[in-house]
Amino acid sequence: MRSDRPRGPAASPSRRAPFWRGGGALPCILLAVATLAGVGGAARAAEESQAFRVRPYLQNPAPDAMTIRWFSASPDAGTLRINEQTLTSKPVPCPELDYQGPEPEDLRHAATPFRHSIRVTGLEPATSYPYSVEQNGETIKAILTTSPRPGAVGKGGGVRLFFYADSETQPESREARTAWLPSISLPGGPRPRWVKGRYPADETTGYRTNLALIAARAAESLRAGNPVLASVVGDLVANGGEQRDWDEFWRHNAGGFGTLAARVPIVAAIGDQEMCGGPTSDDPLADLGGFSGPASLLGSRKFLAYFEHPENGAADKRHVGRYHRIDFGPVTLLTLDTTNGGADDGPDDTNQLLDSRTAAHVPDWAPGSEQFRWLERELADAKQRGAITFVQCHHPPFSSGVHGQPPGTGKGFDEHSGQPLRALLPLLREHGVRAVFSGHDDLYEHSIADGVHFYVVGNGGDGLPTPQEGVVNERQIFVAHDHAAEHWKGNALEQGGKHYGHVEVDVRQVAAGPGFTVTITPVHILPILSPEAPGEIVTWERREYDDVLSFDVGGAPPAPVDEAPATKEPVP
Ligand SMILES: [Fe+2]
Repeated sequence: MRSDRPRGPAASPSRRAPFWRGGGALPCILLAVATLAGVGGAARAAEESQAFRVRPYLQNPAPDAMTIRWFSASPDAGTLRINEQTLTSKPVPCPELDYQGPEPEDLRHAATPFRHSIRVTGLEPATSYPYSVEQNGETIKAILTTSPRPGAVGKGGGVRLFFYADSETQPESREARTAWLPSISLPGGPRPRWVKGRYPADETTGYRTNLALIAARAAESLRAGNPVLASVVGDLVANGGEQRDWDEFWRHNAGGFGTLAARVPIVAAIGDQEMCGGPTSDDPLADLGGFSGPASLLGSRKFLAYFEHPENGAADKRHVGRYHRIDFGPVTLLTLDTTNGGADDGPDDTNQLLDSRTAAHVPDWAPGSEQFRWLERELADAKQRGAITFVQCHHPPFSSGVHGQPPGTGKGFDEHSGQPLRALLPLLREHGVRAVFSGHDDLYEHSIADGVHFYVVGNGGDGLPTPQEGVVNERQIFVAHDHAAEHWKGNALEQGGKHYGHVEVDVRQVAAGPGFTVTITPVHILPILSPEAPGEIVTWERREYDDVLSFDVGGAPPAPVDEAPATKEPVP
């Protein structure tokens, strides 16, 4: 989240990875992506489907089931074909996905969309199934892959997960090049003058290229027999109450800009931006509510309309889907809702702008709360099962960004501080949590506290800020700004610097026995700049920050391998 504006553009050397097997095909793919996105909104109309408001995407993965969801413009039923079955959808109108009054007319779809959601059951674990969805005469084909059984891996011997946060999509990002300041404490540079403190690509291109790389790496993993899960750790959109921002998010993930979510199930944590209606105004016709109770409710309803997350047993059914557990082979991923925990305006309040009396739809996360007790139970269960446990929550307990300031208002404080989340540390340590993934600050940062690794992966596709002046994160071991100095050669950046990216997690079964090797790799996309034409991006490359973490998890019970049968016959 950026705190400077309610809606954007609101507010050690990197190392080359030996990834380019196949003669550099991926850079070409990424160049094509960047070129398309670079034309901005002009490309949008031609790429959009008439039948699908959101193209088919995967939700709630399980070893024997998967949900396939899409949104249509018409109330007509659609057809899903998979595994020799033909299933008909039951369209549900979603008025919560209508536009708010002040949203521009030229960015609106014509009518209220209809949701189609089909839970396909009876599937085999870690197995790929071609499927097709037909809606109003348009047919889309893709392949889904189920999860391995708990404790098991795919036939390639592993699973792969991706984490990123803060895509903060909005149509305005197509024209926005974010602020981009170099570290001045390390040798490197010198930057050419044309940079002028702005990133060479716009935010839309950055996010789109980041997703294209995730899609390519996911495809590689799936072809090798290793199932894939992708997670967005909050602040998916710039403003949760503005429908055009959600349209843009799905355009990237299941639309004209990209279709990663058709092949890889995506899971999400809710962030504070999903709880922001949009800018406030003295003019009631232009007021989108900011972080008020009604505005946060509208944003929450849009979030919940799109995502199907596993049942969490919450007493208040409005809290179902906001925090959840997903088992993905040897991994248990616990997702928290940290958007308004603690007592109002107190030292544990993660949203100083939201009055809990108007936000009963938001579950508390603080110690003693229902969500906290759920976390305790799930952590204990995961530990007992020998799972590799990851936790994700939008607010980072440890960060050197603006949200690393203590909670409060005024200079030196933050209204959406992540610091209160440090209250979870004893619980995380006690239950052997391996890593916590967060966003909120648009940084890549890695910290260690009491043996638990904390990642900030907020460089998904929006800002690329510097650490906040005056904030010292004493647990930090790597932050891209300070540990990846830029190295320029004329107009070209050879390595280093702050870039859009994600974290890739590979879990591989140890060949010689029980247990797994976990590798957590911070990845960024490096714009390869023309030596001759200042600022012209020739292509993009996958690079890794020099902060790769690898560890073995022993003592787990022997991990059976899900012998995935051959991919089913294609859908006719
Ligand atoms: Fe945020």
